[in-house]
Amino acid sequence: MAEQKTKRSGFGGKAAAILAAAGSAIGLGNIWRFPYITSENGGGAFILIYLGCILFLGLPLLIAEFSVGHNTKKNPIDAFATIKKGWGWLGAMGLISVTLIMGYYFVISGWTLNYTLASATNAIGGNFGTFFTEFTTDTWKPLIFTYIFIIANHIIITGGVQGGIEKASKIMMPILFAILIILAIYSLWLPDGREALANIFTPDFSKVTGKTFLDAMGQAFFTLSIGMGAMLIYGSYFKDGTKIAGTAISVVSLDTLVALMAAVIIFSAGVENESGIQLAFVAMPKVFAAMPFGNLWATLFFLLLGLAALSSTISMHEAVTSYFVEKRGMERKHGARLVTLFALLLSTVASLSLGDWSNFTIAGMNFFALLDNFTAIIMLPLLGILTSIFVGWVWKKEDMKAELTAEGGVDKATYPIVRFLLRYVCPILVSVVLVFGIIDFAKSFSKPAKCEEPEVTLEVMGAKELDINPTEELERVEIKVVETNNN
Ligand code: TRP
Repeated sequence: MAEQKTKRSGFGGKAAAILAAAGSAIGLGNIWRFPYITSENGGGAFILIYLGCILFLGLPLLIAEFSVGHNTKKNPIDAFATIKKGWGWLGAMGLISVTLIMGYYFVISGWTLNYTLASATNAIGGNFGTFFTEFTTDTWKPLIFTYIFIIANHIIITGGVQGGIEKASKIMMPILFAILIILAIYSLWLPDGREALANIFTPDFSKVTGKTFLDAMGQAFFTLSIGMGAMLIYGSYFKDGTKIAGTAISVVSLDTLVALMAAVIIFSAGVENESGIQLAFVAMPKVFAAMPFGNLWATLFFLLLGLAALSSTISMHEAVTSYFVEKRGMERKHGARLVTLFALLLSTVASLSLGDWSNFTIAGMNFFALLDNFTAIIMLPLLGILTSIFVGWVWKKEDMKAELTAEGGVDKATYPIVRFLLRYVCPILVSVVLVFGIIDFAKSFSKPAKCEEPEVTLEVMGAKELDINPTEELERVEIKVVETNNN
């Protein structure tokens, strides 16, 4: 193992720590995923359960992860192994998972770039669904935007912790908040806005099922970047004297605020009946097009989405890069290059799996959906359980307490609560959710991957050939006219 020759780098100060970590947390998860998961689960009641998951599971886990990084000042693998010999695999599991997340997250990030440009140049036209499908199933276009995004990431990462990540966060995060506030204020002026909002935020507990809890917890972990080494590595860059608990509370508050504001923006536009991954990319442009200065709002919205995605992907990239730099003794630019290559490879397959390669499916899922489901349903909860067990049970009690309650940490009165949550509540509750998740996930393997013959035959006037593509749940069938006969 290579010894570190130079002093390990880190963030310059407390504000930088908060901005970078909030940048990791705030991402597509808040603006793209949170609104559609909320609408799929019927609104208000889901939001309350989600807030419970954030407070009682997410916050203690975030404090735990920051503490492991801050205490050891090492990359995820060495950090766990330093606290307890033989536990490096937990860090490795996180890094493998975050690499898989990068595989599809970069693809969606690339879409935001195309949508920003297309909105600014008024190129989306009137048919929003068609624009989305044609773009995402195209071979080269989405790939090119994804590659541009990955290269932007690479440049920031090779710039280093202070010169790259910190600087980028300090520029991007204020712009992101400014855009968000402008859009939120504007959306509240919309005629139906306030009514639509009241609807979505009114709890309706009749809509609560087991799945609501599954989704709420998955969303809470995803949005806080839990368990995958990204928050751990940022914790390891905190300057001495950075308040761990205070930083975690700030990050959680900002992240929640952004998610709720994104929901306000999206639902006040009256799209609560739309759902799925298309909500942000199909419904929003439609809404903007009907507004005065629609292109301006649309451009701002997609710019917001892109900036949020960029500040999240740099934390994923950094977690893995830090491993190659510190554990494999590579130069920073070489380590980063290797991670960038992985990202290019995986995202190429993920992007093509939506179009040209959509016929290759496992359990009815294309590669893109497989990466998303496997990481969200299995890896995120599993890593949450293992991290809480590690901090609550494996880490020597006195050392753990000293780290958690160090100056600016959890105060003496709250410490027993955090410890109790980490030792009992997190492992038990998350295990229950994981088991249900696995059962659900396994079901998709036993289901026929595709129905051989569609039950309904459809004829579209003038169409010579129809491409009928039943989706996973068979609740929705995608129909694409492949060739039309104009006569
Ligand atoms: N939290 C980010 C979001 O909401 C996504 C993210 C960044 C992430 N780093 C992560 C998710 C690490 C899981 C693990 O978009």
